[in-house]
Amino acid sequence: MGLPPRGAIWRVLVTGGAGFIGSRLVRRIETEWENAQVTVVDDFRSGNFKNLEGFRGDLIAEDISRLEMRAFFKPKDFDAIFHLASITDTRVADQKQMCLDNIEGFRNLLEFAQGTRTPITYASSAATYGIDARVNAETDPRKPANVYGFSKAQLENLAMRTLLKPEHAGWAVNAVRYFNVYGPGEAHKGPMASMIYQLYRQMKAGNRPRVFKQGEQTRDFVHVDDVVQCTLQAMAGGKPGVFNGGSGAARSFNDVIALLNKALGTGLEPDYIDNPFAFFQPFTQADLTRSRHELGYEPQYTLDKGVAEYVAWLEKQAC
Ligand SMILES: NC(=O)c1ccc[n+]([C@@H]2O[C@H](COP(=O)([O-])OP(=O)(O)OC[C@H]3O[C@@H](n4cnc5c(N)ncnc54)[C@H](O)[C@@H]3O)[C@@H](O)[C@H]2O)c1
Repeated sequence: MGLPPRGAIWRVLVTGGAGFIGSRLVRRIETEWENAQVTVVDDFRSGNFKNLEGFRGDLIAEDISRLEMRAFFKPKDFDAIFHLASITDTRVADQKQMCLDNIEGFRNLLEFAQGTRTPITYASSAATYGIDARVNAETDPRKPANVYGFSKAQLENLAMRTLLKPEHAGWAVNAVRYFNVYGPGEAHKGPMASMIYQLYRQMKAGNRPRVFKQGEQTRDFVHVDDVVQCTLQAMAGGKPGVFNGGSGAARSFNDVIALLNKALGTGLEPDYIDNPFAFFQPFTQADLTRSRHELGYEPQYTLDKGVAEYVAWLEKQAC
């Protein structure tokens, strides 16, 4: 289906638009499509108004799982829907709250958009893969290790089940499974911000960066601008399905510390501490074969480039 030409009026709904990734997506859309009409739905449970500096659109400060959508809009008001609203604190153990808010929010949106078959791209997560230590492709079994990952798997099931109905066949509802996203705009997430940001903060304060022994656990760290790009390409692709949104590379916490030392001009040695968790992912890495072939997605950031640019950005904020 593609995306509209740059000068076109593009009417877009972004849920979770005051959050880290959602606000970066909103900014990208408003920058590149100068006539875009963006509506954000966000109840600010983990977002921050500062992320929406310069926002030109309409903001509905409501909970998407309880919002009576038709009281605010008609389905034909939107050309595209990006659904990123979610409880993102993976430590939330209240299973009812996690499932109710995350799953019912998506169901509400699907029911709203089904009559017009408005395309939807929604945020899923690498947490659906669980703690399997391997390069994960979308066809791998899903084994979420926490209720957050479980709720994301249920979003995927709901989309799949909806699309099985003959009247919805071919409706462009697709997911991007984000991996470990880092970059500008995540500070409001506190302990849920990326390890890159946590380690930066420790080192900036002159402390040795604390990581679990021996710092060789790896993650697919992906820059926020790459996942925004992948999300836009999933929308442009117009195909139902699930797509990995990662960097395609696994890098260790020791690598991150070395890159932060380089960017900060420090020489802080890691402080290796015991890992208290029985289950801790030793390795994550996205297999990008499907995203590359079906979406044309190609990440632009290596970890080296991403950390260097991110630290430069963080240092500028501190001035
Ligand atoms: N950051 C990552 O590494 C990562 C990895 C995998 C998946 N994701 C997914 O990407 C999406 C965005 O995450 P983020 O990192 O930007 O987190 P975030 O917490 O900064 O953003 C989530 C936003 O959704 C809003 N929100 C939550 N529940 C809501 C509800 N019921 N109604 C309305 N608004 C609601 C929050 O206020 C917040 O602004 C989420 O769906 C998340 O699960 C993120």
